[in-house]
Amino acid sequence: MKILVVGSGGREHALAWKLANDSTKPEIFCTPGNAGTAALGTNLSHGATDLDGIKQWCIENQPGLVVIGPEAPLCMGMADQLEAEGFRVFGPNRAAAELEGSKQFAKEIMKAAGVPTSAYETFTDPGAACEYVRQRGAPIVIKADGLAAGKGVTVAETTEQAEAAIRDALEGNAFGDAGNRVVIEDFLEGEEASILALIDGENVVLLASSQDYKRAYEHDEGPNTGGMGAYSPASIVTESVLEKVKTEVYGRTLAELKKRGITYKGVLYAGLMIKDGQPSVVEFNCRFGDPETQCVLTRWDGDMLPAINGVIDGNLSEEMIQWKDEHSVCVVMTAGGYPGSYAKGNTIENLDQANAVDNTVVFHAGTALDGGTTVTAGGRVLGITSLGTDLPDALSKAYIAVETISYKDAFYRNDIAHREMKRLAE
Ligand code: GLY
Repeated sequence: MKILVVGSGGREHALAWKLANDSTKPEIFCTPGNAGTAALGTNLSHGATDLDGIKQWCIENQPGLVVIGPEAPLCMGMADQLEAEGFRVFGPNRAAAELEGSKQFAKEIMKAAGVPTSAYETFTDPGAACEYVRQRGAPIVIKADGLAAGKGVTVAETTEQAEAAIRDALEGNAFGDAGNRVVIEDFLEGEEASILALIDGENVVLLASSQDYKRAYEHDEGPNTGGMGAYSPASIVTESVLEKVKTEVYGRTLAELKKRGITYKGVLYAGLMIKDGQPSVVEFNCRFGDPETQCVLTRWDGDMLPAINGVIDGNLSEEMIQWKDEHSVCVVMTAGGYPGSYAKGNTIENLDQANAVDNTVVFHAGTALDGGTTVTAGGRVLGITSLGTDLPDALSKAYIAVETISYKDAFYRNDIAHREMKRLAE
């Protein structure tokens, strides 16, 4: 069977890797893919948001499955378009993807459904938004309503920072149309964790928990990024937290969507803040997390295709998914300067040696092939992911592999999973 994976990041390399290793040995295509996915199958030239080009390729090549990785094509309706042509697609339809495509929509659903989340208001007028911020005080969170490639969220420590973020979005056009409306939310205290759930329209199966490290620099300082590393499982997600997430988050959200005639099929990512054992939703994403996926899929024991088929066919069950006991860690290596401006085209050395480290996979993100040479081609370049008998073992393997790899201006955080390591030391 031919499988097409849409996207080009670390998440898509991890998905393609898991699918390529399925016991049914499918033929893998990625569009546009990266240097890592090229080693698993065939990279196509269509960008991830080239809906017409990808549809045409599917019509000509008849894949048995299309897995859509990133949010942008999902929010544009790629799943609807391909399903209308009769293809089997993993990824929510456009209406369901609005949970990520519009922060206001997500908040409205959560409020109506009674999902635990922070108080919020939505504004298009900068004066009214700034007045609201002055009433609520800081810290406070300003979010561009639409998709802003991971850059639309400001956690403002002061009301001045919040007002600057409001003016950037509503007056300065910092996020284009995505920032024509802002959602202003109360800041939530606690510790973050990520839960991914597979959903077949009715049944919900939670995947292994993880925690990602979003800030660029060690000690969680510096600007927000797409994610500098992650680990799984996250012990802050206890059985009792999981039960609450299943009922209070997924159960209530899906019931509210259903009331509005929206069916969710695919993966739904809940970014959570957990305080005193109570989870609150920070954000929903309509796709797998990156780099959480790298950690979660390396712990997935056995084939993933039965669960993907279960989602599409509406007969998903817990038994389709087993987890390895091992712990996983993903350390992201970036191009120097990321998340600001950075160079591309630097040669990456020693990938084979890093991949040879015990229980380690080097997932590619921003990489490309230049002739036979693998070069940097994005801000997040690689996600080195290791399994270990425990977290320290996984960390030790991942960092040995990271230190083996070299390219000009390579950067990474040395403290991924530091909160869990502190807990272990207590
Ligand atoms: N790691 C955060 C995200 O995927 O949005």
